[in-house]
Amino acid sequence: MSKPRLEGKVAMITGAASGIGEAAAKLFAAHGATVVIADIQDELGAAVAASIGTDKCSYKHCDVTDERQIEAAVEYVVTTYGRLDVVFSNAGMLPQATPIMDVDMAEVDQVMAVNVRGMVGAIKHGARAMVKLGIRGSIICTSSVSSVQGGFGPASYTASKHAVVGLMRAAAGELGRCGIRVNCVAPAGVATPMSTVHTGWSASQVEETCSASAALKGVVLKAQNIAEAALFLASDEAAFISGHNLLVDGAMTATFSYSMMN
Ligand SMILES: NC(=O)c1ccc[n+]([C@@H]2O[C@H](COP(=O)([O-])OP(=O)(O)OC[C@H]3O[C@@H](n4cnc5c(N)ncnc54)[C@H](O)[C@@H]3O)[C@@H](O)[C@H]2O)c1
Repeated sequence: MSKPRLEGKVAMITGAASGIGEAAAKLFAAHGATVVIADIQDELGAAVAASIGTDKCSYKHCDVTDERQIEAAVEYVVTTYGRLDVVFSNAGMLPQATPIMDVDMAEVDQVMAVNVRGMVGAIKHGARAMVKLGIRGSIICTSSVSSVQGGFGPASYTASKHAVVGLMRAAAGELGRCGIRVNCVAPAGVATPMSTVHTGWSASQVEETCSASAALKGVVLKAQNIAEAALFLASDEAAFISGHNLLVDGAMTATFSYSMMN
């Protein structure tokens, strides 16, 4: 492996019991970080932490729809490990693919509570801890290709991911004076429990369909690729990158019509 890129840093990752967050927890730990997995799937989260190693990783229950739980998770990180350098606010949900004319407003509220309010809380409490400790940290939010175009997911999901980018930009503006960088990583479709459960497809069906929509051929997007992008944004190699929505989509959103025609 190349030189560890997060040596001595402490990272909290929400939604890391599975999928993209799990891949990031493993990659960040492999690059020298101590990682706290914050999730609601307690058994799975604890098992992922154990697989990484209790010297490098621990699990903390945290429902991001409850601000007090986010605050408690950040408090746990700081009291246990003495610092907080990276917050990867990644927890998210994908609602049913319901047409806008039939959308369930309670479901819209739930999507916003997880995908938007949860990210606000993670930035708020993560940044407070970083400022208190005098740490020039990195905060990364998981957006989506649905943050830049409609049509990739249900309307409420698309709205929530557009909101995440607006939130990230506002936070990058405010927190820059404290030396804190705020960015998004924006995945195209990846085979994770979220996408397979949502579509009812197998992992390979998700991958085939998503690969067909990308302009870039010959690469199948994996959770690991998103974790690598998040690692870059977390690391000092991205020292002057803030306010950026890093698309990891094989030019899908840049050339969508082109890729569909070819
Ligand atoms: N998989 C994709 O195709 C895809 C594409 C673009 C963006 N994303 C985004 O990537 C992120 C991760 O999703 P994934 O694909 O790895 O899915 P996943 O289902 O594998 O992981 C999501 C994790 O978030 C956790 N979570 C859900 N609600 C939570 C809550 N209230 N509090 C704390 N944790 C909660 C889940 O328990 C789970 O561990 C999400 O923000 C999602 O919107 C995924």
